Parts: sequence; structure tokens; C-alpha cells
Amino acid sequence: MADTATKQATAQRQAVDSVSYQDLYRRWENGNWKSTELDFSQDYTHWHETFSDLERSAALWNYSMFFHGEDSVTDNLSPYIDAAPREEQKYFLATQQVDEARHAVFFGRFMKEVVERGQDIGSSLHATQPHLTWGFRKTFEYLDKVADGLRKDRSKPNFAAAITMYHLVVEATLAQPGQHFIEGYLEKRGILPGFYQGMKNVSKDEQRHIGFGVKCLSDLVREDPDCKYAVADLLREVLPMSVGVFVPPNWDRRYVEVFGSTIEEVYLQGMQSFESKMRAAGLPLEELPGAPPLPITLTPAERVERALTMLQAGFIGEKTGPPSRDPQKVALLFDLISRSVDTSATPNGAAAIQWDFKDAEPWFLRIDNGSTHTEPGRLERPDITLRCAFEDWVDITAGREDPRIAMLKGKLRPRGSIRMLMRMPRLFGR
Ligand SMILES: [Fe+2]
Ligand SMILES: [Fe+2]
Repeated sequence: MADTATKQATAQRQAVDSVSYQDLYRRWENGNWKSTELDFSQDYTHWHETFSDLERSAALWNYSMFFHGEDSVTDNLSPYIDAAPREEQKYFLATQQVDEARHAVFFGRFMKEVVERGQDIGSSLHATQPHLTWGFRKTFEYLDKVADGLRKDRSKPNFAAAITMYHLVVEATLAQPGQHFIEGYLEKRGILPGFYQGMKNVSKDEQRHIGFGVKCLSDLVREDPDCKYAVADLLREVLPMSVGVFVPPNWDRRYVEVFGSTIEEVYLQGMQSFESKMRAAGLPLEELPGAPPLPITLTPAERVERALTMLQAGFIGEKTGPPSRDPQKVALLFDLISRSVDTSATPNGAAAIQWDFKDAEPWFLRIDNGSTHTEPGRLERPDITLRCAFEDWVDITAGREDPRIAMLKGKLRPRGSIRMLMRMPRLFGR
């Protein structure tokens, strides 16, 4: 098993090495297309007459996020061009910026001419803003922050983290599965021919962008061993936000199912795409330093199922009310905690942590010889006891509340060995 995985990883890396930046540039010259010449006349009729009300709402929700996404990535690519260490990388990124502008123009035309939202890019963006999900807004605010950070720090580790954010998280994990989903149902039903043609062109461009991202990341990781630390830090911060991007309004699953897919299928594609690209870049998830950004001991399908359950329980993602207290779901939360701790942050691979909730039953985590175990109940002599309300702890694990601020506010009261308390941020990857 391990041998097969190693062989696959080697083959993927060789494939990445065999593509040059010049090849990618050449593909761009050969793949140019015109967003301004797509014919949307049939699309107009299909949108207003063939689509049901639900299909129109569902498509508008999904396409609005693509439109805003393309606008954001167009604006945010400039510092990448400045930070890229090689000329060939700068040139490719310059072509990519043109592509992203073309994609934004394509979606902008569709919003104006077919959906009748807005008169120019600015007003169309404004008109479609209410359709952006919490996960989308958080993820793209984070991309803005990453791009700004790159203006100040052009080091290879910071550039590697920024490439991971843009090319691997936004493009490979979020955009690509969404494109496949849309193209799939448009092709099957033979509708929106102008939009379908545009989406196919966008997908081809994105494939090239992702190919560049994987290659660039692979080169950076080889050139500077510190890159993997920066990438792992970034993933720990952004994945809890990006997991909420494709959550439909009020969890109305019909927004996806009306077009013949399940939410699980779209998430699974994203998860698999992300994992394989990280592996191809020489950064398999299981080898990332520190607390794992995802429960890597679960299969991708299990991870998706967990993520969706955790989102709906209010344990991760947008806060829409108090979190679930269903004991089975709480057990999943602690299982996730036990799979996400960085056991190397403990002295001698051992630690015992007690949660003493003011308003829920206690739980504990035991780390022994590098393996972890959680269950409800009390330990006799924990190294650390965390006293807090259940909801406050959920807000901390979901990244909604900084644990240091929670302590200052008196919401979280840790007790125990100073040595272990100092290690807490590393243990939980925060
Ligand atoms: Fe794009
Ligand atoms: Fe792109």
C-alpha cells in the first residue's frame, strides 16, 4: 500500500517536472479565446423560459460566486508577479492575470446580458453580492490578506504559502469542482450554449493555472525547506473558512440537487483534487509539519461527511446560533480534536487535557506515545484543565474566537502545568 502510494507520488512528481514554464506559456498563446464574442442570445431564452424558479435561484447563487471569485483573483495576482523569483514564472503569471480578467468579463457579460443584473462590472458585482456565502466572503478576504502580505514579504516561504492559497485552495479545490459540476449539467441538458462554451474555455485556462501552481510550489519546496511550514500554517488557517464556501442558503440541498449532483459529490471532488495536487507538489498532507490541517487519518469521503456534519452542527463555519449538543455530534467534534492535535508538541509524546465545561458534560484528551484518545468523563490528574462554556470552546475550535482573547475576557480559564500551557498553541495548531 505504502509502496503504491510512493510510486504514485514519484510518478506525479515526474509529471510535474516534465512540464516547463515555457510549455505552460505556449499553451496560453495557443489557447486564447474571446469572451466578448460569445453569443448569449439562446442563453437569454433558456435562462428566462427553460429554467424553473428554483433552477434560476440556484444558478444565480453559484454563478455569482464564480463572478466575484474571478474579479478577486484578477485584482490579487499583481503581487504574485512581483514576488515570483524567476522570469519565466513572472511571465506566466502575467498571462494568468489576463486570463482572470477575461473570466471576470465573461461572467460580467452573462450577469448583465442574460441575468439582467447591473450595467457594468461594478454594478453587476454589487447586484450579485447578496448571494455570496459566509465561507466565500471569509476565504476571499483571506486571499486579499495573503496578496497584501506578499507585497511586504516576497520570501520563498511566503510566496509558497500564497501560491497554495491561490492556485491550490481557490483554483484546484474550490473553482475546479464547481466548473465540472456546472459544465456537467449544461452539457447533459444542452442549455445555455454561450455560457457552456465560456465555461469550457475557463476550465481549460484554470487547468493551466493549477498546473503552474503545482509546478511552482514543487520548485519552491525543493529550493527552501521552510516553505512547508508556511504552507501548513496557511492551510490550518484557511481550510476552516473555505469548507463553508459551497453551503447553500439555509442548507437547501435542492440548490445543488436540482442540477443532478449532491453536495457531497462536489465536496469530494474538491477534497480529492486538493489532496492530489498537494502530493504532486511534493507536500503530501500527511507529511506537513505540525497539527494536520485536515483529519488525514480519514478517507476523503469520510472527511467530507464529517465536514458537512460539523458545518451543520455549527462546530465549524458560519455561526448561525448555538452549536448542536447532540451527544453523537459532540463526540465527532472531540474525535476531530483528537485527530488534529500535533502530538509532537507534547513533552515525551504524552499529555492529558481535561475540558471542564460549565454547561455540558466533561471530556478529556489523552496523548500517549504519540497516539490520541478522547472520551467523555474526568481524568484524575490532567496536565491541563480548560474551564469554559461549551459554546465558547466551539467558537475557539472553529476559529471564531482567538483563544488568547477568550482568556483575557475570562471565557476560557486554563489551569495546570505552565510548561504544557505554553505548548497549547502548537498542540492545537493555533
Ligand atoms: Fe479564472
Ligand atoms: Fe485561474
